[in-house]
Amino acid sequence: MYRDRRAGEVRGRVGEGVLDAAFGRRDGALHCEDVSAERIARDVGTPTFVYSAGVIRERYRRLSSALSGIPHRLHFTAKANSNRAVLRLLRELGAGVDVVSGGELFRAQQAGFAGRDILLGGVGKNALELREAVLAGVKLINVESLAELELLSSIAQELGTTAAVGLRINPEVLVETPHAYIATGAKGHKFGIPWDDAMHCAQAALRLPGIELAALDMHLGSQLATVEPYRLGAERIAELAARVTTAGAQLRYVDVGGGLPVSYQSGDPEPDLEGYAAIVGALARETGTELLVEPGRFFVAASGVMLARVLYRKHSGGKDYAIVDAGMNDLLRPSHYDAYHQIDAVRPNGTTARLDVVGPVCESGDFLALDREMDDVSPGDLIAVHTAGAYGYVMGSTYNARPRPAEVLVDGPRYAVVTAREQYADLVRLEQSDPVWSDASC
Ligand code: LLP
Repeated sequence: MYRDRRAGEVRGRVGEGVLDAAFGRRDGALHCEDVSAERIARDVGTPTFVYSAGVIRERYRRLSSALSGIPHRLHFTAKANSNRAVLRLLRELGAGVDVVSGGELFRAQQAGFAGRDILLGGVGKNALELREAVLAGVKLINVESLAELELLSSIAQELGTTAAVGLRINPEVLVETPHAYIATGAKGHKFGIPWDDAMHCAQAALRLPGIELAALDMHLGSQLATVEPYRLGAERIAELAARVTTAGAQLRYVDVGGGLPVSYQSGDPEPDLEGYAAIVGALARETGTELLVEPGRFFVAASGVMLARVLYRKHSGGKDYAIVDAGMNDLLRPSHYDAYHQIDAVRPNGTTARLDVVGPVCESGDFLALDREMDDVSPGDLIAVHTAGAYGYVMGSTYNARPRPAEVLVDGPRYAVVTAREQYADLVRLEQSDPVWSDASC
């Protein structure tokens, strides 16, 4: 349902109820809440990512209320969208945050999160990042290997403190995701502590100084089509929790990671929040712990569109191209994961065409859509690439020396530029064209 291959079937159009009502039309033109996309493009230029604060609020409340009755905290996964205004909005709603690098920890702190609101995860945290997290007094550090646990133990001792640690376990369950790159919880993946080593690591955590074994953690993958992997993962976590408790651990949390799916087009699975809550709620109850959840995509994907402008049309080899001013450096998902993002004209002219929507980057893999039946567009027209609020701007690069786009947050009738468009000078800010050489011969 997710792939958009050259020979793919005609895609269903995403309609009312699939995309959030926040992106509706007035007098035929796309709006984000009460602000017209044309107005934003005129004021801020293109490409620009536009986020609806209302959608983020609605998503946060939806998951919160599905989990009501279960002691829990929602820690937004910053890697999905680490703009500080977005982080701040979620903090004000009551969310904590989940970070995977020193940079994300810095962003979270800049957005006003205190240590007790922050989880640190990630498969390759370095000593400096671990140290920064301990100094920040983060709520939990999820470790992924015995070697990392030993390093953290020595850092915490050196700082004269104890670090609350979660063991990220790879429960080694079969996970069905739309692309292999976003599955993480199967046997042999680089993520987490292999299931067979879990008890050994837990015993080390109980023994090592400076370490409090406070949690068990899993993250199975992203865009999970069903709740079945959660059920299998939760069974394994519950089994391990019983064993580590017998061994002397006093667990405070179970962390079930992220992975809730989002609908990118009609026919995509909607998340089964009830089924999900039943599974993770039972895990929290059975282990007598607080549930931690790390949603990324679910909170922000549907909040965002990327606005771009059509530069040219081209007919080549029997195909029609729309060449637009945004490319794989701005939104990598179509190229990297064959991901589907609905594309509409901001002001449709009532006709459709079958198009490849491609960017200006000098790569054949630079596309936003292939062989797509969609609104026909002409040079100068604006397009909206939907469901681009998660893993959009954050995965961008300046490849081809293309300055990064702007980010705009909309709230009712107001909008704010929350990241200015990069300028050419920014591209060379950290470089030396006339290098200062260090003599390394002696
Ligand atoms: N927790 C951990 C440990 C994670 O690694 C992730 C995402 C999440 C939570 C949040 O998962 P979510 O709720 O967003 O599914 N760039 C890819 C997605 C990569 C996800 C990486 N980990 C994409 O654009 O589809």
